[in-house]
Amino acid sequence: MPRDAYVNGRYLPHRDAVVHVEDRGYQFADGVYEVVPIINGKLVDEIGHLDRLDRSLDNLEIPAPVSRRALRMIIRELIRRNRVTHGSIYFQVTRGVSPRDHKFPAGCRPALVMTTKQTKPHSAEMLQQGVPVVSLPDERWARCDIKSISLLPNVLGKQKAAEAGAYEAWQVARDGMVTEGTSSNAWIVTGAGKVVTRDASNNILNGITRTRLISLIQEQGYELEERSFSLDEALAAREAFLTSSSSLVMPVTQIDGQPVGNGHPGILSSKLRDHYLDFIHGLKDEA
Ligand code: PDD
Repeated sequence: MPRDAYVNGRYLPHRDAVVHVEDRGYQFADGVYEVVPIINGKLVDEIGHLDRLDRSLDNLEIPAPVSRRALRMIIRELIRRNRVTHGSIYFQVTRGVSPRDHKFPAGCRPALVMTTKQTKPHSAEMLQQGVPVVSLPDERWARCDIKSISLLPNVLGKQKAAEAGAYEAWQVARDGMVTEGTSSNAWIVTGAGKVVTRDASNNILNGITRTRLISLIQEQGYELEERSFSLDEALAAREAFLTSSSSLVMPVTQIDGQPVGNGHPGILSSKLRDHYLDFIHGLKDEA
C-alpha cells in the first residue's frame, strides 16, 4: 500500500485521500488522466505524457490545475514519499467540484489527484510465453484520442478478456479493422517483416510507448507502416505485440485462441522489446 496520495494541494495518507461527492469526475467522468511508468526509479517519457495531458485538457477546455513546473515537482515529491522504484504514477485532472449540472459551471477550479503504484516487473515466464488476446467490438465514442477518465467500454472489455483467460482485448471497429486494446496499442508484423500499427487518429489513443517505439523502429531501420489492419490480417500475421506504459512491449502469441505465427513470441517483437528496454536503461532523469 502506498503511503501517500496527492489531493488538490495536499499530500495525505493514502487511506484518507478522498474527493468531494460533487467532483465532476465522479458524476460525469468529466476529466482526463495520465499514467507514467517508473522504471529503476526513473520516469519514462515524462514530457510526452505531460504534453498529451495538455492536449487532452485543451480538447475538453479544462484549464491546467497547476503549472507544468509545479506538476513535475508534485510528481517527484510523491514518488519520493512513496519510495517507488518500479511501477507507475497516475494523475487525474477533473473540471472540479460544483452542484450537478451538465454544462460547464462558471468559476470551477480544476481538481488534481495523484497516486503511485509499486509493481513487480513482468515475469520472465510471461515474456517467454507471450500473452493471449481476444477480440471484441469497439463500442467506444468517436474521440478515443483524448485520454478521458470515461473508460466504461474499456473496463467491460478488459473484464471480458480476463473472463476468457486473456491478457487484453483487441477492439475491432465495424469495418473489421482493429483499433487498439482496452489499455494498450496493437501491432502486428507481416509475413514480409513489416511492422504495422494503426495510424494515430481520433480512433485510438496515441500511446506514448507507441510513439517512442516508432522512433526506435525508425532509428533501427526496420520497415514500418502506420495503417489499419483487419482482425483477419492479424490472425494471419507472423507476429503480434502490444504496447503501453504498464506492459511496455509485450508479445502477443494468441488471438481468439488461435496461435499467431508459430505461437511463440516473434523474433522482431522480442528485439523491439529489447530496444525499448535499452532506451529505458539509457534514460537520464528529465530534470
Ligand atoms: N493505458 N490505448 C489505450 C486505450 C490506453 O488506455 C493506453 C494506456 C494506451 C497506451 O498508451 P501509453 O503507451 O501512453 O501508456 C493505448 C494506460 C496505461 C492505463 O489506462 O492504465
